[in-house]
This record gives sequence, C-alpha cells and structure tokens, in this order.
Amino acid sequence: MKKPIIIAIESSCDDTAIAIVKGNSVLSNIIGVQHIHHFYGGVVPELASRSHQKEIVPLVHQAIFAANIVKTQIDAVAFTKGPGLIGSLLVGSSFAKSLAMAWVIPFIGVHHIQAHILSHFIEIEGKSSPKFPFLCLTMSGGHTQIILVESYFEMTLLGQTIDDAVGEAFDKIAKIVGFHYPGGIWIDYFSKNGNPKKFIFSKPKIDGLDFSFSGLKTQFFNFIRKGLKKDPKFIKNNLYDICASVQATLGDLLFEKMMLATQQTKIFSIALSGGVSANSYIRKKFSKAASKNGLQLHLLPIEYTTDNAAMIAITAQIKYSLALFDDLDLVPGSNCGWNL
Ligand code: KG4
Ligand code: ZN
Repeated sequence: MKKPIIIAIESSCDDTAIAIVKGNSVLSNIIGVQHIHHFYGGVVPELASRSHQKEIVPLVHQAIFAANIVKTQIDAVAFTKGPGLIGSLLVGSSFAKSLAMAWVIPFIGVHHIQAHILSHFIEIEGKSSPKFPFLCLTMSGGHTQIILVESYFEMTLLGQTIDDAVGEAFDKIAKIVGFHYPGGIWIDYFSKNGNPKKFIFSKPKIDGLDFSFSGLKTQFFNFIRKGLKKDPKFIKNNLYDICASVQATLGDLLFEKMMLATQQTKIFSIALSGGVSANSYIRKKFSKAASKNGLQLHLLPIEYTTDNAAMIAITAQIKYSLALFDDLDLVPGSNCGWNL
C-alpha cells in the first residue's frame, strides 16, 4: 500500500517548524528558531505571531525541497491546534487551511502534547516504538504531566504540575544566574563540570503523582541572594556546582514521581518526551534505572524532544490511517483539553 505523505506545521509558541513524513519516516524536519525573544527573557506573543507570519512560506518551501518531493505528492496537511499562544496558533492553522483548500487535500488538527507523546512512533534507526500500555512523562516549558497511554488516542492524565512547568523552573532559575531564555540547555551544559551534591535544596512534598516547582524557584532565589551577600562573585565562583545541584534536584524529583507511577500502575515501560527530556542528567538517571531494574525506557533523539513538526506529522499520519480528518472551520485553542 502507498505510504501517505503529510506536511505538518507547528507554530504553538516561538519556533516555526515544518516537517514532512512518508508513512512513519521523516523526510524533512525544519525548525526556524525565533532568536528575537532572547533579548526579552521570555517569549513575547505578539513578536512570535509576526515572526511566524514572516517565516512560514520560506520554511514550507525549504521543507518540500529538503524532502526531495514535489507539492503534488502531498496527501494531507496537519497543524498544531493547541495548546499554545493563540496568535501563533492562528498563523499556523490559517496557513494550513489555505494549503488544504488550494491543494484539495485533507486537513488534520493535532494536539501538541499528544504529539510530544506520539513522537515515540517516528521510525528511528535502532529505536523501537513503545508497546501499549506505557507511561509517558512529558516535560516542557508549559507542561509537566505523567500520562498513561493505552492506545494512540486513549490517554489518561495521572499527575501534573500544580504550578510551574519543569521547563519554566529551569528557565527561571537560569535567568537568575544570568543565562538568556530559554536557559534549560545552559544549566545542562554548565552542570557537566559541576558537583551535583555541593548545594542541597529541599524538595516539595506533594501528594500522589502531582508536581510543584514554584517553591524550589523561590528557594533558589533566596539561596543566590544569601550567597551574593557573602561573596559578590558567588555565582561566578560556583556556577558549575550551582547548575549541577539544581539540575539534580529537579531531575531527582521527576524520577522519584515516575518510580511511584510505575509502582502504582505496575507498568514498567516509560517514555520521556518534551524539551526537558533532552536534559543529560535526566536521561542518565532514567537509563541507569533501566539497566538495573529492568525498566523499559524510551528516549527520543534530541531533535525530537524540543518542539518540532515531525511529532505533529507522525500524529497526523496515525489520524490519517484512522480517517480522523477535520473540517476547515476548526479553530485552534490556547488551552484545548484532550479533545481529539
Ligand atoms: O517542548 P519544548 O521545546 O517547548 C514547549 O512545549 O514548551 O520545551 C522547551 C523547554 C524549555 O523550558 C527549555 O529550557 C527546556 O525545554 N530544555 C531543557 C533542555 N533543552 C530544552 N531543559 C533542561 N535541559 C535541557 N538540555
Ligand atoms: Zn512542546
């Protein structure tokens, strides 16, 4: 049977991403990073929408060129329908609607978090896809959730953050030590030469499978303030150890909750997804447990952890196979639940 070719547009936040898949394999995966937000310490929604508007056409051309196909071969167009910044989502959805109308092909809206989870079904050499049921820990700048995945679209939320997302905690802590947005990756980078046990931070005690990260951020702020009182060069003199210690605290917290989830559900197959799953400490911590305790661990290549359109395209591919198409009057939502 002919494998459908699908083009996907991901514009939920500050990256304009376009990907093309054929069946479950990725033909092209292009990401246009919006550097302008670095100067503001966070994403400026108005600037993000304008930048999507400017970048989307050249990036679509680039993705088609990189996939080595012609546009008439494309069988469907997919886009992120939410959650995300509404202005950014509207740019992607309007553009996807125009393509669907012009090329007379099906139109498929995709839930961003479901896509992070289903990115584990992208065909990747040397990696097998998880078997159902499995637990997925999705960790990004906007979400931290433990999800029980029983089939492609049967997903149950078992726990989530009650305040900040873990990526947000990484980014806010990074800003306090002086890294530009998004600083999670810099904390990871500087941790490599640091001692994770040098500074001890207390972990929040939240019942069940929920998380909380805002208290840790306040604790960290006070810790830095005290340190700077004693030594004006406290951050500079301890940067590696500060990064390693805070990263270990966040990573251990996530790990402990996932271990609790495996005990409660008796499901020992775990997938990690979202931008924070690129973190080297977190990957190592889970990998060690997998080799010791017989846990089945599914990690993504780094390029599919942070926001990308390949995850939207693979989810659309699954929907296409089930004939789950959308009408052109579909409106994206900044906070659309689990609506399929
Ligand atoms: O999934 P994602 O690209 O976008 C959202 O849906 O939010 O996640 C972005 C988040 C940011 O908070 C970023 O700092 C964090 O992922 N991140 C990392 C690393 N790479 C990206 N956090 C810790 N360590 C990393 N290596
Ligand atoms: Zn994301």
